[in-house]
Amino acid sequence: MRGKTLVISGGTRGIGKAIVYEFAASGVNIAFTYNANEELAQSQVVELESKYNIKARAYKLNILEPETYKELFLEIDKDFERVDFFISNAIISGRAVVGGYTKFMKLKPKGINNIFTATVNAFVVGAQEAAKRMEKVGGGSIISLSSTGNLVYIDNYSGHGTCKAAVEAMVRYAATELGEKNIRVNAVSGGPIDTDALRAFVNYEEVRDKTAELSPLGRMGQPSDLSGACLFLCSDKASWVTGHTFIIDGGTTFK
Ligand SMILES: NC(=O)c1ccc[n+]([C@@H]2O[C@H](COP(=O)([O-])OP(=O)(O)OC[C@H]3O[C@@H](n4cnc5c(N)ncnc54)[C@H](OP(=O)(O)O)[C@@H]3O)[C@@H](O)[C@H]2O)c1
Repeated sequence: MRGKTLVISGGTRGIGKAIVYEFAASGVNIAFTYNANEELAQSQVVELESKYNIKARAYKLNILEPETYKELFLEIDKDFERVDFFISNAIISGRAVVGGYTKFMKLKPKGINNIFTATVNAFVVGAQEAAKRMEKVGGGSIISLSSTGNLVYIDNYSGHGTCKAAVEAMVRYAATELGEKNIRVNAVSGGPIDTDALRAFVNYEEVRDKTAELSPLGRMGQPSDLSGACLFLCSDKASWVTGHTFIIDGGTTFK
């Protein structure tokens, strides 16, 4: 993996941060994005470069404006010689999801549309730009984060769950069309993982306790529970894995 480059959205916190550190520890150069936390992002750049002897750069991105991925990749082109992996990870929260993160009868098109833009459109434009670069180096691996909230009921999650189902379908289409370029495309779908996004749930404590109760492993997920799967899917060990969703739910979905 050393010398290859990962581009990932939302690398400052939660699952994205765990992925950034997992790949850096394997010698992968990292181009990651932040939205609000510039200071945190720049301090991570310094730490990643000194600790892992890799190149790291942070860029601002708002996934509610997916077309700006084009300018972002032009910036990345100036800093990195190649793009091998792309992970669409960032997710919106707070005011942007009002009308989307709620009960079915309270859903509003604007809220759902914002989540769709951040989940599906951002994946599409980011993956298109990444694929153009991957083609030049003989192939690559693309991943979208997803959630088991598109398989099992989660309170207030209808907007997110529906958009995650949509992005998993988009992943299969992308995989089918990009395979001839030796680009593999998969989704990694997590059960509840202890991050800021989950802590913003109005019933966070209930979800945490219920997840631990449902999991045969007796605990909820941690960001590092998903990062290893992402590393595997980007490695040659997953050379014939494409068009699938890798479910990592601590065994919670079956019970
Ligand atoms: N947590 C879970 O239970 C869970 C389970 C399954 C799947 N997932 C999925 O995993 C992914 C990561 O979730 P997480 O829980 O790690 O989230 P998180 O801890 O809330 O982190 C969100 C990340 O996205 C960035 N971000 C926020 N708003 C943005 C915007 N408008 N434009 C661009 N970037 C933005 C943040 O950057 P700043 O720090 O700069 O704000 C941060 O790096 C998401 O796709 C989520 O749906 C989460």
